[in-house]
Amino acid sequence: MRKENQLQVEAIKNGSVIDHIPAHSGIKVLRLFQLHKSENRITIGLNLPSSAQGSKDLIKIENLFIDEDLANQLALLAPNCTVNQIENYEVTRKLQLSLPEQIRGVFQCPNSNCITHSEPVSTRFTVSQKGEAIRLKCHYCEKSFSREIMTERR
Ligand code: CTP
Ligand code: ZN
Repeated sequence: MRKENQLQVEAIKNGSVIDHIPAHSGIKVLRLFQLHKSENRITIGLNLPSSAQGSKDLIKIENLFIDEDLANQLALLAPNCTVNQIENYEVTRKLQLSLPEQIRGVFQCPNSNCITHSEPVSTRFTVSQKGEAIRLKCHYCEKSFSREIMTERR
């Protein structure tokens, strides 16, 4: 019989596991960070049962080690996710996520008059946090937006 604590997606030998992604955010994480364009083998679990969250998404990327900078960018999308480094089948590191100071090339500026919509520049936002509220300020038009209304760059 299948044990409850059995791995739900096959273990990997070397690479990174992004665990505890809020259910339905896994695809967004893949897309925003262009992980689907990588040549590494990637396995995805969506809506997996999770004791802590009810259900979660999970992404395993073989032979790629997510560095602190990328992990911190993930903190903007999936604040409570866990980034694990796997070496020779062992979890060797769990990265501590903190919000990045800046995020570049990921979100689109919600201000339709912003120069980033007409010039081929990479978007760039400064991140700030007041209590639970996370805000992003556009480097170009200097307007601030709440994290919730941000959409990905086309
Ligand atoms: N994992 C993997 N391949 C391995 C080892 C671990 O894919 N060779 C995955 C596990 O399936 C899990 C994540 O890496 O999704 C973290 O592993 P582990 O720390 O062993 O699991 P938990 O203790 O459940 O993690 P947490 O405390 O973060 O919930
Ligand atoms: Zn702008």
